[in-house]
Amino acid sequence: MSAPVVVAIDGPAGSGKSSVSKAAARQLGFAYLDTGAAYRAVAWHVLNQGVDPAVEQAVVESLDEFGYVISTDPDDYYVHVNEQDITDAIRETRITDVVSKVAKVPVVRQYLSDLFRHIMATTDKPGIIAEGRDITTVVAPDAQARILLTASEEARMTRRSAELPQHSQDQTASALRARDAADSRVSDFMTAADGVVTVDSTDLDYAQTIDAVVGVIRSRMS
Ligand code: DC
Repeated sequence: MSAPVVVAIDGPAGSGKSSVSKAAARQLGFAYLDTGAAYRAVAWHVLNQGVDPAVEQAVVESLDEFGYVISTDPDDYYVHVNEQDITDAIRETRITDVVSKVAKVPVVRQYLSDLFRHIMATTDKPGIIAEGRDITTVVAPDAQARILLTASEEARMTRRSAELPQHSQDQTASALRARDAADSRVSDFMTAADGVVTVDSTDLDYAQTIDAVVGVIRSRMS
C-alpha cells in the first residue's frame, strides 16, 4: 500500500479549522487528527492528577501515566485518557484556561509531535488531515498539502460568540485575544511559512471554506 497523503492545516482559534478539517476529511475519505485535542488532553490529565500546570517538571513526569487514545474517524470522534472518555471535558473553560501552559513545555511538544507523526504514518485511510498550530511547520513540514486557514479577528469573534451564546461578546473577545497571545508565544500560526497556501475564510461561508480547502488538497494530490 502506498504511504497515506498527509494534509497539514494550521490556524488560530475561531478560524473554523476543526469543523472544516473534519468535513474535508469526510469528503475525501481521509482520517482526521485534532492535535489541539491532544494538548487539551494533557492539560486535563495534569489537572486530574492534581499537578500544577505551571510546574514544568511535574507536567513532564505526568506523561509517564498518560494513556492517550484519540479517534481519527471524522464520523466517530472521541478522546480517552486512561480509559476515561474526556471528549467533552477537554472543551471546558478550566481546560482552555490552562492548555497554553502545558503546550509551551518543550518535552510535551516533542512527545505529542512524535505521537502525531506515528498516527499519520499508520492510518489505514488513503490520507489524513491533521490540524493545529505547528503542523505545517514542525510536525509535518513535508506534507503534500499545507494550508493556513485564517479569518479576520472580527470574523473569528463573531463565530465564537455564536458558539458561546451564554457568554457576553466582551468576555468572548478578551478570551480569544488572550488565547491568541498565549498560543503565539508557542508557534507563529498567523504567518504562512514557505509553500503553505493561505485560505482566508473571512468572507466565505462554511460550505465555501470547505470547498476552498478541498480544492487546495485535490490540486496538491494531482
Ligand atoms: O485548537 P485548540 O484550541 O483545541 O488547541 C488547544 C491548545 O493547544 C491551544 O492553546 C494551542 C495548543 N496547540 C498547540 O500548541 N499546537 C498544536 N499543534 C495544536 C494546539
